[in-house]
Amino acid sequence: MAQIKTLNGFRDFAPEDCAIRNYIFATWREVARRFGFVEYEVPVVESSELYLKKSGGEIAGQLFRFEDQGGRDISIRPEITPSLARLVAARQREFQKPMKWFQMGQCFRYERPQKGRLREFYQYNVDLIGEESLEADIELISLSIEVLRTLGFEAGDFVVRLSHRGAWQAFCEAKGLTETATDFMSVIDKWDKLTPEKLDEQLAPFSLSYDEVKSFIDAGAESTEEIKTIIAGLEARGLGDFVKVDLAIVRGLAYYTGTVFELFDLQHNMRAVAGGGRYDDLISTLSDGASDLPVIGFGMGDVVLRNLIEATPKALDKMQATLAADATCDVYLVIADDEKRAEAGAVATQLRQAGVKTDYSLSSMKFGKQFQRAEQLGAQYAIVIGSEFPELKIKNLAERSEETTNFTEDFAALVLDKLA
Ligand code: HAM
Repeated sequence: MAQIKTLNGFRDFAPEDCAIRNYIFATWREVARRFGFVEYEVPVVESSELYLKKSGGEIAGQLFRFEDQGGRDISIRPEITPSLARLVAARQREFQKPMKWFQMGQCFRYERPQKGRLREFYQYNVDLIGEESLEADIELISLSIEVLRTLGFEAGDFVVRLSHRGAWQAFCEAKGLTETATDFMSVIDKWDKLTPEKLDEQLAPFSLSYDEVKSFIDAGAESTEEIKTIIAGLEARGLGDFVKVDLAIVRGLAYYTGTVFELFDLQHNMRAVAGGGRYDDLISTLSDGASDLPVIGFGMGDVVLRNLIEATPKALDKMQATLAADATCDVYLVIADDEKRAEAGAVATQLRQAGVKTDYSLSSMKFGKQFQRAEQLGAQYAIVIGSEFPELKIKNLAERSEETTNFTEDFAALVLDKLA
């Protein structure tokens, strides 16, 4: 039988990949909690209707969508926001406002796989629900910046491109584009991907030219009061270098109503690391007006983030140092005499029950090989168990020092003391 490969756009996570993924997760979770956010989760499959009606834009055409055995039309989640809005619309009375919530989980989109975009990815969602003031926008953008800073990136490595749909609404009204505003915005969404000639062609049906729209985008800095307030807030927090007004950011999703932003690297020209914005009407429309809460949030993916860490030496060094400090093994038992294998098992059990990461060879192995294995696993100590048992040797592998002691009921306490 021909070898069966992973589907295009899907990844296996060998242990090294899982370690990297977990490092990203640990950072995401730690930063969210530092800002006072709490974790939640929603289902991986939902009725397709939720995404068709609420995600809109490109995502609606990228669903992994199928009929389940009960004949229901369901989809695997391409994003989290519609589910979050559904949950909040149904149960908002139970929660104190503002709600500061985050989530991390896998999403699936039938996109054309390319660098930075796959059909399966992990997304970090951070949303602030029930606060309409721009303080919420400033807080959320600050959090997205802090994630990158915590991973080792600095100003000059990345920037948040900030925009506001209100500015475009005003533009559309002034140009008489009320009916066709959504179609017009989907052209602007491709601003950085198309050539000026192509844009000119696509703007023609709206009686607009590339130059006309470009001069509106270029005047962005003098744009809306909202943008000015957000920039001032970020400057006051010392984060002014991490943000830039860019009206070409409009975001492809249907539900955004105000502030929109995307986070990009500045060195490698990769795809967006994160994107988000305000969606003040989604909860209201999902509850037929019964609940009405403003929300601002963003989503950050693991794919571009990992590429970016690996392309940026200081971020890569930081990750490798963190992963190395989290060795898979603290103590390796070297069995010098195979007759004492059962005793080694007893030592391992006591150490493991005390929380020490302990490993040893399950089959007979040469003495030197066992030490090699200890080094490979990053163990700090090797404990040699031989014919003298209960006497044994504790070797500090880095210092190449050694001491002799007896295996007793308190042996684990002695080892824990050394590891501390
Ligand atoms: P989005 O811009 O569609 O927004 O996705 C956010 C991030 O998820 C992107 O910047 C990217 O890092 C990652 N991402 C999206 N699609 C893919 C893909 N096919 N492969 C790899 N990574 C991907 C949303 O999903 C909004 N729901 C975010 C949000 C939360 N807005 C408010 N709250």
